[in-house]
Amino acid sequence: MIKAEHLSFVYGGSFKAVDDLSFHIKKGQIVGFAGPNGAGKTTVIRMLTGVLKPAEGRAEINGHDIVKDALEAKKSFAYVADNPDVLLQLSGLEYINFIADIYKVPSDERKERVADLSERFGMSDSLLTPMREYSHGMRQKLMIIAALTHNPPAWILDEPMTGLDPSAAYELKNLMREHASKGNAVLFSTHVLEVAEKLCDHIIIINHGKDLYQGTVEKLEDEHKGKDLEEIFLDLINYRKEDL
Ligand SMILES: Nc1ncnc2c1ncn2[C@@H]1O[C@H](COP(=O)(O)OP(=O)(O)O)[C@@H](O)[C@H]1O
Ligand SMILES: [Mg+2]
Repeated sequence: MIKAEHLSFVYGGSFKAVDDLSFHIKKGQIVGFAGPNGAGKTTVIRMLTGVLKPAEGRAEINGHDIVKDALEAKKSFAYVADNPDVLLQLSGLEYINFIADIYKVPSDERKERVADLSERFGMSDSLLTPMREYSHGMRQKLMIIAALTHNPPAWILDEPMTGLDPSAAYELKNLMREHASKGNAVLFSTHVLEVAEKLCDHIIIINHGKDLYQGTVEKLEDEHKGKDLEEIFLDLINYRKEDL
């Protein structure tokens, strides 16, 4: 459903931020995309979503190549970017409608989903307020509501938990679980491995743009007996640093 094949990306002609990364997220899976700050997660997500063009390799969403078949690919995923500070002059509802118009979400379905998502995220009373008056967490929640109003098979979320209060984080985790359990695919990045541990079937860990681990949390723990996930994560990152 979400496929990356030998993706690489170079900033400024020389800095290789992503180096030959491949993965395949299947229907029904929630996959946590982990790695420390600067690991290359956002760059990968921007290539998957067509914001950046890969230097090498290709990406595919729901069978559509993100470069060659961009429109069909883009209809197949919802994307929550890492920065919620966009179009702050709009009210929350204006922003949601703007995004829902782009995706041509029918009005009945839109009303129902916006009402449900706003309720879940405690945003029902703030929808008419300009987003410049929102706190960071409220902006983040609004971006999530706007992205998920259009309900495509793949969800791609870049650090979606950042700034969320515990009840919003809980709601988002439930939504991701529900979405995956209906046969869809969810990919979300995080620099906090504990989030991925609880929620995901599979995790992908990268550092310096390179693949460090792909598989289940159990398999990772089996391979590093006696250590908790935080220690394993730090080991993986340091091991690679020495290796480079
Ligand atoms: N626009 C840019 N120009 C140059 N370097 C960048 C740019 N964006 C990101 N980088 C660098 O690429 C690397 C990966 O960044 P990023 O993909 O944002 O990582 P992550 O999302 O895992 O924190 C970092 O070293 C970062 O400094
Ligand atoms: Mg990032």
